[in-house]
Amino acid sequence: MAEVNLLQALPQTKRNIQKRKDAKDPEIIAIAKQFGQMYFDGPREYGYGGYQYDGRWIPVAKNIVTHFGLKPGMRVLDVGCAKGFLVKDLMEVCPGLEVFGIDISSYAISNCPDEVAERLVQGNCISLPFSNHEFDAVIALNVLHNLERRAVKSALLEIIRVCNSDKMFIQVDSYLDDNQRHIFLDWVLTAQFHDFPAGWLQLFGEVGYKGDWYWTIVTE
Ligand SMILES: C[S@@+](CC[C@H](N)C(=O)[O-])C[C@H]1O[C@@H](n2cnc3c(N)ncnc32)[C@H](O)[C@@H]1O
Repeated sequence: MAEVNLLQALPQTKRNIQKRKDAKDPEIIAIAKQFGQMYFDGPREYGYGGYQYDGRWIPVAKNIVTHFGLKPGMRVLDVGCAKGFLVKDLMEVCPGLEVFGIDISSYAISNCPDEVAERLVQGNCISLPFSNHEFDAVIALNVLHNLERRAVKSALLEIIRVCNSDKMFIQVDSYLDDNQRHIFLDWVLTAQFHDFPAGWLQLFGEVGYKGDWYWTIVTE
């Protein structure tokens, strides 16, 4: 179980924190939390501001394959896979790897690359529609903080249940000091549970999570 930055190769996102803070209102937040077209492909105030495949997950996929020693034939689940870009890239960098994704957003799933359309399912991570120990590795990137604390625990228990090893990786919103916390609160739209690392580690311990993790820290 280790803290490891598997997403370090992703390009840094430019964020206009003040613009987001000024625009944010309950209606925008409610629309963002639907994880529909506006969240992925609407204006930046609502979420991604446009989420298209551009290959940026390829180096991350390589890191994941190397970190977990993934081999052709192994089965991997991406929880909160959005449009399935990482699912596609994991199979591209490791041909023969069997990768699947689940996401609550029917909009995201139905706007995935053709190659992964049969591999993505719509569903909620608090109740994964998979058998015990069905996967050799499970990842959940920037998903779990969108749940209430109790639901985060349910989702983690589900991830542990469907994985046949400790090859699990969770990345969630966090902050290392009060200044980072203020920036995060100005920026956040969809997160429901977030905490300092100690709070997250406490939660991981409560469910006996033995996988790896890293933090998404919002910067300007
Ligand atoms: C910030 S995006 C992250 C997407 C992708 N994992 C990434 O890192 O780019 C959060 C994703 O979590 C999904 N999501 C939110 N709540 C969920 C839930 N309860 N079960 C499954 N997916 C969920 C959203 O639809 C969205 O695709």
